[in-house]
Amino acid sequence: MSGLEIALAGYLAFGQLLPQGQHEIVKHAGLQAIHADGAVTLRLREEGKAVRDENGATVTTVRYKDERYPFEVTRHVKSWSDCDAVETWVEIKHSEDGPVKLLRADSFASAVDVPAKEVGVLSLTGKWAREANVSESKVANGQIVELASKAGTRNAWESNAAMMVSFGPSDEESGQVLGVALEWTGTTSRRIRRSWDGKRTEVFAGVDMTTGPYTLDPGKVFTTPRAVLVWSAKGRGEVSRQFHRWARNHLMPHGRELHPVLLNSWEGSYFSFTEKTLTDMMDGVKEMGGEMFVLDDGWFGRGKYARDDKNQDKTGLGDWYVNEEKLPRGLGYLADEAARRGLKFGLWVEPEMVNTRSWLAEEHPEWLLREEKRPLALGRGGTQLVLDYTNPAVRDRIFSDLDKVYSSIPSLAYIKWDSNQNIVNPGSTFLPADRQPNLWYDYTIGLYDLLARFQAKRPHVMVQACASGGGHMDFGFLRYADEFWTSDDTDPYMRVFIQWGASQFYPACAMACHVTASPNHQTKRETPLKYRFDVAMCGRMGFELHPKDLKPDEIEFAKRAVSDYKRIRPTVQQGDLYRLASPYENPYSALMYVNGERGTGNGERGTGNGERGPDAVVFVLGLKDNGEKPVSLNLTGLAENANCKISEINAADPHGAALEGRNLRLTLRGPYDSAVFVLTRID
Ligand code: GLA
Repeated sequence: MSGLEIALAGYLAFGQLLPQGQHEIVKHAGLQAIHADGAVTLRLREEGKAVRDENGATVTTVRYKDERYPFEVTRHVKSWSDCDAVETWVEIKHSEDGPVKLLRADSFASAVDVPAKEVGVLSLTGKWAREANVSESKVANGQIVELASKAGTRNAWESNAAMMVSFGPSDEESGQVLGVALEWTGTTSRRIRRSWDGKRTEVFAGVDMTTGPYTLDPGKVFTTPRAVLVWSAKGRGEVSRQFHRWARNHLMPHGRELHPVLLNSWEGSYFSFTEKTLTDMMDGVKEMGGEMFVLDDGWFGRGKYARDDKNQDKTGLGDWYVNEEKLPRGLGYLADEAARRGLKFGLWVEPEMVNTRSWLAEEHPEWLLREEKRPLALGRGGTQLVLDYTNPAVRDRIFSDLDKVYSSIPSLAYIKWDSNQNIVNPGSTFLPADRQPNLWYDYTIGLYDLLARFQAKRPHVMVQACASGGGHMDFGFLRYADEFWTSDDTDPYMRVFIQWGASQFYPACAMACHVTASPNHQTKRETPLKYRFDVAMCGRMGFELHPKDLKPDEIEFAKRAVSDYKRIRPTVQQGDLYRLASPYENPYSALMYVNGERGTGNGERGTGNGERGPDAVVFVLGLKDNGEKPVSLNLTGLAENANCKISEINAADPHGAALEGRNLRLTLRGPYDSAVFVLTRID
């Protein structure tokens, strides 16, 4: 059967009768509806199964019908031959006499029949600048544990849309673990329920409908987000690797390409720049070996609402035309200046949002999400609100305004898509009064519609998902984007933890990691330049500073570091990740990326753009303790019999590390010390 046993076979619907003798119905359900006539149960019968090929993937569909009501459910399960992940989702439709109310409509709702004395759950939690903290607990007998995301746009903060459920003890290398991740950028709920005797464990994942029931009209189809499932009998590390491989191969638009070393202008200039500031930055990043320049916030808006040095973040969102006072020669000129230096050009936008102080809000006050009888709750800058993406007219306008901007930059290569406000005024003038709770789901569908339109028109443009940092860190957005801005916190010490957390589910190539100034702008921490580079090299490395603030010797260091990064980039961005030592348990963190091409590990032949990286790369990242720290690592990513030589890169003063078999030993010399090693197989 597989396709993870057709996504674990069942789908728990409210009201199904449990086997005879129990005199009970399914109460903890993934699907719950109130029929048009008020009845509340579902009695679904399997009607048939079909299997089809979809571009090399296998898709199985299972159709169910209610015994008495014209209510249908179709479950889909998609699997691939080159990775162990499966996707599953559900379509719901009916032809009852009036609308049906969906109280729950999970993507996945099954009993997982794996006997285990204990069941545990791992998830990611956090907030602005503290994303992706690893959070773990046990699910005791008779308990339901629910993980629920924040409301609306920055959904990944409170609880990221992914989790790992372990059956029995588990660690990086051992244990039975089910990974579940929702492809959804809106509100999500994931639940694990254990029966009173611990013999049965049920797992649910889907859109969070505690924001109100979804009203579904006859003949319309409600499609749940896709859930991605991964099963591993070899611990959490394998779950992560399978998620990474699936995302690169089957989800991200440019997942198999190498992602560029870029400089993003934000921390280097904030809102304060002229054309010269930006061309100076281009000179700097070019000199250091960078490949792209990205212009962040502050380039748009006009007149009293210009997004300038004075107004900062209080004005202009929604007014997508260049501020000609600030940039008289326009964006095309800047892109040409970048091209003259051999750099690609990217641009920041925040299309879901509007400021009350903008020409768009004056023209269309009815396009802002708001509840009619309540005063507006205002976000960033005291003026920021969310646009009503349930309304196609709003999406058309944003598409057409931004499309004009993009057309003025023929060489546009990258968009940073930001989103800096939650849905805190959950009301739509577009949706009828009795459909207001539909807002949460319909908003995200509207967002994907717009992202898909941009993608279809400019498929070569890479997109970064940003929502005040890692608020859009989810597989739903990654169908349209190639990376996320991992966190606004660019302090490398904090990043060791944030990136460790993000790596549980998301691949290194999707993690934007930038070298910034010291002291760090968010935490004021001072760290060595080498440490800042080494931490950023664990993902898609870039810069977020003004290069003129670096001293000549630092520029020289940066040049070597960028060149070293380019050498290891295919292995880091496309290889298999082995997490060797957790920063939660050690005074350091250690990561190993393995290029599968020569059979060093279990990896794929992933060397984007045809470039080949080293056989393996190992990062050892010290934390903040003061003394010397002996480090002894078991390089679990190496085959047992592998014979390798080791060399340290990006080091003025090497650590003198020793490799014996799979054991790597070195001594870290104090706070924020770090080392990067390249392994070459010699057998
Ligand atoms: C958010 C993003 C930052 C930057 C600013 C610009 O905070 O996360 O990277 O783009 O907005 O206003």
